This record gives sequence, structure tokens and C-alpha cells, in this order.
Amino acid sequence: MSNLEQTLSIVKPDAVERNLTEDIKKIFINNDLKIVNSKKIHISKEEAADFYKVHQAKPFYDELCTYLSSGPIFVMILEGEGAIALNRKLMGATNPKDAEPNTIRKLYGISIDKNSVHGSDSAENAKIEIDLFFKN
Ligand code: CMP
Repeated sequence: MSNLEQTLSIVKPDAVERNLTEDIKKIFINNDLKIVNSKKIHISKEEAADFYKVHQAKPFYDELCTYLSSGPIFVMILEGEGAIALNRKLMGATNPKDAEPNTIRKLYGISIDKNSVHGSDSAENAKIEIDLFFKN
């Protein structure tokens, strides 16, 4: 049975700054994820706060929003079979220290904050996050 999904991926400021966008795109493409839409943007702290609002009660929320708005990011809609879980597998654990070898965060992440990529964690959030960046 087919399970074609879309998910949102963000190349975060630390990785855009180090010119890693093309390398990260290649990892997705080589693993059967199609980039169906993408753009480089620089969001405001308010927009970052809206994007990360599921984390608003967390102690690191303010820092997280400051960071995501600190420089350009590259946002993508990825499409493929089981795209949500596949993207999360390719990214690796949130903390690069805990990530499996050859995952994006293991290869490129600097710290739990500067972990190079974000990916939607569920079908529900994938839809919300895609709409936030790509509707209208
Ligand atoms: P991301 O997948 O973008 O989702 C929320 C982000 O919060 C996460 O990646 C991390 O970069 C960041 N973060 C900072 N501190 C923590 C923490 N203690 N636990 C989880 N995520 C954290």
C-alpha cells in the first residue's frame, strides 16, 4: 500500500551559513525524497515564535526563536513514501552527540541548538508547518 507523504524540512542558519544546503539536499534526493518546493528566507523572531509555538513552555523557547531568526534558512517540502519518518531518520537524533553515524545532524550538527536541520515530527505538524511557509 502506498504511503505518499509530504513533510517540512528546514536547513537552519548554522548550516546555511556554512554552505551546506546543497549537500543536505543531495542526502534527501539520494534517499528517494523529492523536493517539491523550496525557498531561502530570513524570518523575524515573531515568525519563529509562531513556528515553534509547540515549544513555548520550554525553557529554551526564547533562545530557539532568536536562533532560527538569526540568519537565512532554507525551507523545503519533501515528498515520498513515508517521508515524515524517513526525513527524521536521515536527520538523526535532536542532539548531534546522540545521532547515528552518517545522519545529517551527526555529519553537520554543532550542538543541540545548532543542529543544522529541522523536520516535522508528525503528519499533523507537517501540514501545519508546510502551510505556514508555503500557503499564499
Ligand atoms: P528542532 O527539531 O528544530 O525542534 C526544536 C528545537 O529545539 C530542536 O530542534 C533543538 O535544536 C532545540 N533545542 C534546544 N534545546 C533543546 C533541548 N534541551 N531539548 C530539545 N530540543 C532543544
